[in-house]
Amino acid sequence: MATGGDRRITAESGTNTHRKCSQSGHLVLRLNLNPGLVNAFLLLKTFSLRLSHRLIGPMPLSSAELAALRQDYAQRGLRRAELHPDPVHQFQKWLQEAAEQQILEPNAMVLATVDAAGQPWSRTVLLKVCDQRGFTFFTNYEGAKARHFAHEPRCALTFLWVALERQVQVIGRAEKASPEESDAYFQSRPVASRLGAWASQQSEVLENRDVLERRFAEAQARFGEENIPRPENWGGYRVVPEVIEFWQGRRSRLHDRFRYTRRAEGEWKIERLAP
Ligand SMILES: Cc1cc2nc3c(=O)[nH]c(=O)nc-3n(C[C@H](O)[C@H](O)[C@H](O)COP(=O)(O)O)c2cc1C
Repeated sequence: MATGGDRRITAESGTNTHRKCSQSGHLVLRLNLNPGLVNAFLLLKTFSLRLSHRLIGPMPLSSAELAALRQDYAQRGLRRAELHPDPVHQFQKWLQEAAEQQILEPNAMVLATVDAAGQPWSRTVLLKVCDQRGFTFFTNYEGAKARHFAHEPRCALTFLWVALERQVQVIGRAEKASPEESDAYFQSRPVASRLGAWASQQSEVLENRDVLERRFAEAQARFGEENIPRPENWGGYRVVPEVIEFWQGRRSRLHDRFRYTRRAEGEWKIERLAP
């Protein structure tokens, strides 16, 4: 039934489909809904939806559907009293809890860099070493992010553990890990990953996939499976933190946020931020 102003259209079952004006002046629409026809119609609609899904892919979410996606975060809060005075300890606690929850890639972090023109970029990398010195990941030293660091070492990291309703943001500066650290991590990687580092000129345009696979086969023929050295253009970057923020989702968007800022003496100042 739909109402609009003083007119009303009503679907009612009856022997024939016809319109009549009710005593109150409402327009009444009588529909004869044959159950067999209705079922056939629904079946046809399902079939055509499946067909169009196959032919043109899934329908994009409408703006209304997107607007209706809403999650109230209610798992837990974060109190100042439970924070470790050292944000790296606090981070390691949260990372361990994310790993215990069997979250896929709990060490994935989005790294934001800035190019020479001031354009921010971001991509995901994996945290491989976390200690008092900072957050270390490994990559190609000639790709886009490496070019950005050569010009501007300031960068940012974001960890999102949405299953725990948690986010951690890090702001700091990137510095290269030592060759010894990069060697040690490189040699701990599986053979295919080590060969892959030789095969990929990261961020360069590839004509097609065959080129990449041919380079991989060449590296395989050159090094075999053992004694694969680390390419000179591959190694670690450590993001030395200056600010670390912990975010815990709460009900009604009244989230808990705590920001640690490094003081000159090496101590950390802790402040609660408005959500
Ligand atoms: C889950 C995940 C983990 C990734 N980990 C790394 C990584 O540890 N190191 C890396 O160089 N690229 C990693 N990548 C690929 C990067 O996102 C990116 O494509 C690549 O580093 C090239 O970035 P650039 O062209 O901005 O330098 C990862 C991607 C995903 C989705």
